[in-house]
Amino acid sequence: MAWPITTLGDVECLRQIRNACRLYMTNDTGIITPQAQAYWYIEYRASGPTTIQVWLLAHAAAQPPLGFFALRHHPYHTVITLGLIRDARNRGYGTAIYTHAREIAGREVRATIARDNARSIQAAKKAGYVVLYDDGGPTIEFTTAQWAVGGTA
Ligand SMILES: CC(C)(COP(=O)(O)OP(=O)(O)OC[C@H]1O[C@@H](n2cnc3c(N)ncnc32)[C@H](O)[C@@H]1OP(=O)(O)O)[C@@H](O)C(=O)NCCC(=O)NCCS
Repeated sequence: MAWPITTLGDVECLRQIRNACRLYMTNDTGIITPQAQAYWYIEYRASGPTTIQVWLLAHAAAQPPLGFFALRHHPYHTVITLGLIRDARNRGYGTAIYTHAREIAGREVRATIARDNARSIQAAKKAGYVVLYDDGGPTIEFTTAQWAVGGTA
C-alpha cells in the first residue's frame, strides 16, 4: 500500500529511507539532517501537489514503511524518484512503482538513473521506460514517451 506523506512521522521515515538510498541518487547524495528535512517539508507543503507529491510504501497497514517514491511535475512531463530499504530490494517493488507512477501521472514520466545502477535501469525497462537521452555520461535519462522508442542502453 502507498500513502502520501502527511505527518511528521512520515517525514522522518522518508528522511531515513532516502538517506539509506542516498548513494544511488543522481542529484544530491548528501545526508539529509532532520533540520534540512523539516525545511524541505515546509517547502513541500507550500508548493502543493501540482508541483511535487511524495508517497511512502508498506506491505500492509500498520507495517513499517519500506520505501518511497516522489513525482515532481514539470510543465510537460513528470520526474520520478524512488528508493527502497535494503531488505525490500530485488522483490519486484521497484518495477511495480515505476509502472504505478506512469499510471497515476497520466502523462510522460522521466527518470534519471545512474549508469551503474543496473537494478534501477532493469526495473524501469521492465516497466516500459525507454532511453530518452544518453551522452555516455554518468546518468541516463529514461522516459515513458512512446515517441522516444528506439533509444538504446
Ligand atoms: C532501484 C530500486 C528502486 C529497484 O527496485 P527493486 O524492487 O529492487 O527492483 P525490481 O526487483 O523490481 O527489479 C530489479 C531488476 O534488476 C535485476 N538486477 C538486480 N541486480 C542487478 C544487477 N546487478 N545487474 C543487472 N540487473 C540486476 C533484478 O534481477 C530485477 O530484474 P528481473 O526482475 O528481470 O530479474 C531499488 O533497488 C532501490 O531502492 N535501490 C536503491 C535506491 C535506488 O537505486 N533508487 C533509484 C534511483 S534512480
